[in-house]
Amino acid sequence: MALVSQQLARQGKRVGLVPTMGALHEGHLSLIRRSASQNDAVIVTVFVNPLQFGPREDFARYPRNLARDVRLSRAAGADIVFAPSSRALYPSGFQTRIDVDRLSERWEGRSRPGHFRGVATVVTLLFQVTRPTNAYFGQKDYQQALIIQRLARDLQLSVKVHVLPTVREPDGVAMSSRNAYLTSAQREQAAVLPRALRAARARILAGERRARSILSRVRRLIRQATDARIDYAAIVDARTLEPQPRLHGRVAILLAVWIGRTRLIDNLLVDVP
Ligand code: PAJ
Repeated sequence: MALVSQQLARQGKRVGLVPTMGALHEGHLSLIRRSASQNDAVIVTVFVNPLQFGPREDFARYPRNLARDVRLSRAAGADIVFAPSSRALYPSGFQTRIDVDRLSERWEGRSRPGHFRGVATVVTLLFQVTRPTNAYFGQKDYQQALIIQRLARDLQLSVKVHVLPTVREPDGVAMSSRNAYLTSAQREQAAVLPRALRAARARILAGERRARSILSRVRRLIRQATDARIDYAAIVDARTLEPQPRLHGRVAILLAVWIGRTRLIDNLLVDVP
């Protein structure tokens, strides 16, 4: 892969990178299509990164189907699918880690210790190997996207990091490989996430500025789903991810909710009038 990337660079080609863990859905494909429209060569990486999973998380049962991922990637405009083994990315003796400090502390970082260190490390490594001009990430994982933008800036990487809108199912549920873990009853209940986000946005647009009042409404809405348990619900500064008691500027409404034994995340950005 490194040799191919060097060759593409020598030819002056714009390279677009779409890092994924596979189990591709429309969310991923939207990134691949955008990348194909803005670059000369598109690389999709498929790698279920062991470094970013906690010991009690779903690494072992994460859905894997490389043949399908290759077919869908190609149809969406990918030129290369890079699916390295763990050994290839982390040969024995590998011990370097990338930490993006403050942005990793809260929310997903607090609930999933070590997660963003694993993400930042693998993304840096993938950037090194593929040397992209542009790289594409989803707003679905908003904290991750901010961390990767920060990392690219801090390390003065030449890649431009693009963050694309969340692709949703007809009932508003954000597309996610983990939706496949839900029973059909749970899948219906998952719609409380986008419903709660939209209700929160409506409150803000109606003039409410107290985060506590909005969040108590959000929590009430989510509790209506019998299998739902809130991990966190927060309204934060969209740039720093620090909680905002009184809302102003651009805010992000962040949700992490367990539906049964499946943990779902979602978010919405709102410009406070
Ligand atoms: P994965 O969960 O496979 O997601 C790959 C990319 O697709 C991420 O940028 C994610 O934000 C984006 N994505 C997922 N669901 C989306 C949706 N419904 N709409 C739009 N974009 C969506 O995120 C990872 O993999 C990994 O952490 C990775 C960055 C590959 C590092 O291992």
